[in-house]
Amino acid sequence: MTRPFVRQAAALAALALLALPAAAQTAPLKVGFMLPATGTFAALGDMIEKGFKLHVQEQGGTLGGRSIQYFSVDDESDPSKAIDNVGKLIKRDQVDVIVGTVHSGVALAMARAARESKTLLIVPNAGAGEITGPLCAPNIVRSSFSNWQPAYAMGVVAGRRGVKRAITITWNYAAGAETVKGFTEGLEKNGGKVVKELNLPFPNVEFQALLTEIASQKPDAVYAFFAGAAAVKFVKDYNAAGLRKSIPLYGPGFLTDGTLEAQGPAAQGLLTTLHYADNLDTPRNNAFRKSFALAYKAQADVYAVQGYDAAQILGAGLAAVKGDMGQRDALAAAMRRVTVDSPRGKFTLSAAGNPVQDIYLRQAQGRNNEFRAVAVKALADPARGCKL
Ligand code: BEZ
Repeated sequence: MTRPFVRQAAALAALALLALPAAAQTAPLKVGFMLPATGTFAALGDMIEKGFKLHVQEQGGTLGGRSIQYFSVDDESDPSKAIDNVGKLIKRDQVDVIVGTVHSGVALAMARAARESKTLLIVPNAGAGEITGPLCAPNIVRSSFSNWQPAYAMGVVAGRRGVKRAITITWNYAAGAETVKGFTEGLEKNGGKVVKELNLPFPNVEFQALLTEIASQKPDAVYAFFAGAAAVKFVKDYNAAGLRKSIPLYGPGFLTDGTLEAQGPAAQGLLTTLHYADNLDTPRNNAFRKSFALAYKAQADVYAVQGYDAAQILGAGLAAVKGDMGQRDALAAAMRRVTVDSPRGKFTLSAAGNPVQDIYLRQAQGRNNEFRAVAVKALADPARGCKL
């Protein structure tokens, strides 16, 4: 016969087991940032993290009723370390959600790991087409753009401005190749063509020989994709080489976003295309910029917006399942259904999980990339190869 206190202990243990899922739901949600903290994209990673945390702060430090515990890995924008780095978040820290990253090559490895482990992944920058193409998955969404989107729009704008012969210059990696492809597609549809593609290895910034080549070819325009510290150097070198006077320089907005102060007069007046412009005069953007400036004593940029919206997308998913990570499929589906009230303007996610969004033509003026026009309205990435 079992003694009463043994029966009581067994009953208590059973109760504790039953109570576990609820306890797990009140435990902090583990968010793992895999972003660059060093190297040419370090400032971009910092702004993404700041934007994400700002939204969480605005919600009182919780999303879907769950407090947040942050984990971080510096991915160094190095694809050769990506598998090890993402493994630290998935296996060592056992995070619920990964937010990352900036560099397309690193993000591709992360997307493969997320597909395999079924970990939720929100990509807050890297535009690699494959992520919302052949690698698309229900547990992966992007809060930023595909490399094709701003590039295609710039091709359209350049063609309409009468560019017949263009030269492209960028790094030799996934984002570089895709941005050139998108620009070429937009330009060719509008009467122009790319006559030469110039490349250098990532993250090289020795531009001189390529600038000499541009000067000798005399194209109607140059299209350049660089970002972060490298964009600062490229724009300054282009100007110092005397090319700005004779050959218009175009690019996706990364060429001048978050970099205008460092670029100084060399960047003033440059036209770029992107899904954000600093001076969008909407209550949503004005409130966001004020809140960001108050929190960080710094001016927001597109990377901060993408981090902020990553947190908004996660928040919407968590709210739909009342913070219960046990309902991961329902959470992921709710993340895709959201209409994001973004500082860039409202946007939705495509079936493949990529923003469907307006791409703006902007012009660098003072410290701002100012809105000039909508270059292409509600542009959806073609999502070639995505099967869900
Ligand atoms: C990319 O690698 O996809 C990327 C990096 C910086 C800015 C934009 C795109």
